[in-house]
Amino acid sequence: MTSHTRIVDPAFKSATRIANVGVSKILAIGARAAALKREGRPVIILGAGEPDFDTPDNVKEAAKAAIDRGETKYTALDGSPDLKKAVAEKFQRENGVDYALDEITVSTGAKQILFNAFMATIDPGDEVIIPTPYWTSYSDIVEVCGGVPVLVPCEADAGFRLKAEQLQNAITPKTRWLLLNSPSNPSGAAYSASDYRPLIEILVRHPHVWLMVDDMYEHIVYDDFEFVTPVALEPKLKARTLTINGVSKAYAMTGWRIGYAGGPKALIKAMAVIQSQATSCPSSVSQAASVEALNGPQVFLRERRESFKGRRDLVVSALNEIDGIQCRVPEGAFYTFAGCGGLIGRVTPDGKRIESDTDFTDYLLETADVAVVPGSAFGLSPFFRISYATSEAELREAMRRIAAACANLR
Ligand SMILES: Cc1ncc(COP(=O)(O)O)c(C=O)c1O
Repeated sequence: MTSHTRIVDPAFKSATRIANVGVSKILAIGARAAALKREGRPVIILGAGEPDFDTPDNVKEAAKAAIDRGETKYTALDGSPDLKKAVAEKFQRENGVDYALDEITVSTGAKQILFNAFMATIDPGDEVIIPTPYWTSYSDIVEVCGGVPVLVPCEADAGFRLKAEQLQNAITPKTRWLLLNSPSNPSGAAYSASDYRPLIEILVRHPHVWLMVDDMYEHIVYDDFEFVTPVALEPKLKARTLTINGVSKAYAMTGWRIGYAGGPKALIKAMAVIQSQATSCPSSVSQAASVEALNGPQVFLRERRESFKGRRDLVVSALNEIDGIQCRVPEGAFYTFAGCGGLIGRVTPDGKRIESDTDFTDYLLETADVAVVPGSAFGLSPFFRISYATSEAELREAMRRIAAACANLR
């Protein structure tokens, strides 16, 4: 959908289902930044979508113990009973929502949860409403599954949040899903109970629209923001909502590849059909580790949140001091999504006009050795995303370089 690196080779014919889909722009920028680094350039990469912390020791130990116990075989198709129980308890304890074990599914990352859910429910031409800016994979997965992403722009002055009127206008008889993500990758914006309520009212009036919520960044929220998931606010929605979460971001476990979801039994069963023909089950060792992540001590979550908050504040205030850049204070996740509209039309020292956010982020990478991702990769321009999941020292240096590069524009 957005700017991608496409497969172009006359000797190869790809399936039509991936005609508009490619390797994400984020990975392409990462590859370019890594190439510059190899040339010896001091590139600072603010593109990564993963915490810079390590997986907690108790979780690593649980994985080692599982290996020693011989838990190295296939598990139950969509999650071991132990992990499903831990997930059910997590939903009950942290979200106040009851899911039975047959209403829970576990996959190889939340990404596979999304993939299974869309594969299991989307027929050609079915529409999925996705507020922008959105995590790039959403629209691509919908397209791979033959669906039509209906992208609804949510501007910075609306807090990057979907409004009830926008939702109402986007719904058609073909709408299958509304997909919401709070806190959001890339904007860091989150929906409070009062932000959700008007949307829920619209959904209640349109029973053919199902709700998919991606709560992946639940534990990374700041100040007094109170995280809430829609099913806890409106139990009537439970029969048509898929509540997605995972261990990747909260527990710094991106490489373990475990995501999970709660939803109606029939949907969970249909998703298991897809999973059975794709991966058979998630990794046994990673599932054992995830049981410990969910059941073990949670105090470190607060410490990590505080650490991220300090970095968020550093980045937001540094960006807002730069003429031409505006950055709202995000409620959560570890991203800022700053506007660079004030820089469009300015000219670089070597005479190139900045026409778009991609021109700006290319300029930053090539002249200031800072890799960030343009808003166009997330369906909303002119913005750029910074991931501040890196050391304060690197962030300070990156902010200094960005400010200097912007000051050099005329
Ligand atoms: C909003 C959002 N949802 C889901 C995922 C995927 O997480 P996982 O590592 O569990 O596949 C990501 C990863 O970047 C994300 O940003």
